[in-house]
Amino acid sequence: MHYFNFKRNILYCEALEIKRLAQKFSTPLYVYSARTIEEHFNKLKRAFKSVDPLICYSVKANSNLSILNLLVLKGAGLDIVSGGELYRAKEVGCPGEEIVYASVGKTGREIRDAIRYGIFMFNVESLAEARRINSIARRLNRKTNVSLRLNPDVSPGTHAYITTGKKETKFGMDYETVKKAFLDRKAYTHLNLVGIHIHIGSQITRGTPFVSAIKKARKLIRELKAAGVALKFFNLGGGLGIVYAQERPQTAQQFARKVLPLLKGLSLKIILEPGRFIVGNAGILVTKVIYVKDAPGRKFVIVDAAMNDLLRPALYDAYHRIVPVIKNSKFETPACRQAGNSKLFDVVGPVCESGDFLGKRRRLNVTAGDYIAVFGAGAYGFSMSSNYNSRPRAAEVLVNGQKVSLIRSRENYRDLIRGERAV
Ligand code: LLP
Repeated sequence: MHYFNFKRNILYCEALEIKRLAQKFSTPLYVYSARTIEEHFNKLKRAFKSVDPLICYSVKANSNLSILNLLVLKGAGLDIVSGGELYRAKEVGCPGEEIVYASVGKTGREIRDAIRYGIFMFNVESLAEARRINSIARRLNRKTNVSLRLNPDVSPGTHAYITTGKKETKFGMDYETVKKAFLDRKAYTHLNLVGIHIHIGSQITRGTPFVSAIKKARKLIRELKAAGVALKFFNLGGGLGIVYAQERPQTAQQFARKVLPLLKGLSLKIILEPGRFIVGNAGILVTKVIYVKDAPGRKFVIVDAAMNDLLRPALYDAYHRIVPVIKNSKFETPACRQAGNSKLFDVVGPVCESGDFLGKRRRLNVTAGDYIAVFGAGAYGFSMSSNYNSRPRAAEVLVNGQKVSLIRSRENYRDLIRGERAV
């Protein structure tokens, strides 16, 4: 469910017309719907109500301060992976006891800052890291909570680059290593080893991989209990898939119905780390057609957004639905399509790489100056954007009913060279 809808062929975000927003704020422009974000958060919360989980929104999906603020005010905690994300969490006043921190490469400084802020727990990905956190905590004279990230060696059935639960990936630790670390817990004088963490990948549309991973973790939890190690937390990670094209991902309800029975009797507090599920379909990228290049065998719609604004198509060959913000109904009916009134175009940006595309072979009927919307851009859109080709990063706006707020100004050329010197 999202609040981007066509009314009489005009695309709206909540009560506001996208074309107007594009004219007012210029393009490329990220437009987010506050209601969609809230609704997705509530859906997950409702589905897991019976276990009252701590839902830590995964900051990396979309780290704009306004979005973090909105979710923190709704009662979300935050899942962070860097000192920079910790800084953002502090900026929005997220209490330390609602922050969990994963990442295979936390540096000494990052660990120190996180302990000082009093984060809830580290999700630890190697024994070397556990030792490092332990010694830093000792120096700071603080004890800190830790979950060990289990790599359950399951295949989540998603793109290889966002698969994290297979044994050959860099994430987490194997079953025996995790088990041994818990049994050796006395060696970690300044760690409270309180939980198990799993995160097997992203954009997972079926329940089965989660079920397999949870079953492995459950076996471990039971074995540890039998050996006298009582845990308190079970962090299921994130990874819930959303609709980009024809996927029929499990709903939050279906997901909960599959996993909740597996958690019965464990008496552990559940933590969830959703990112994409909350914000993915709560954002679009609006871009303007600069040229239409319609030569025999080469048909391109060239727009003012590029791979630096939305990297997903270039990096993962990801599909994002692309639609003009004013539907040209004449060309949208199946009959007209069959008659060949609209053609197949690659939608590309101005960046100097052939990998710079937002969509391939799309049926579009647009001319220079038209605005088009790229859907499903709320997660890993702006947060993965860059200044490649010295392109200032896009502006971001948040719509809430009738109201729109500029939540990140468009960068300018001065921003591009901040910190640089011509020596
Ligand atoms: N927890 C951990 C430890 C993670 O590494 C991630 C995502 C999440 C939670 C949130 O996963 P989500 O619910 O959003 O699937 N850039 C890629 C996605 C990378 C995901 C990285 N980790 C993309 O655009 O598809």
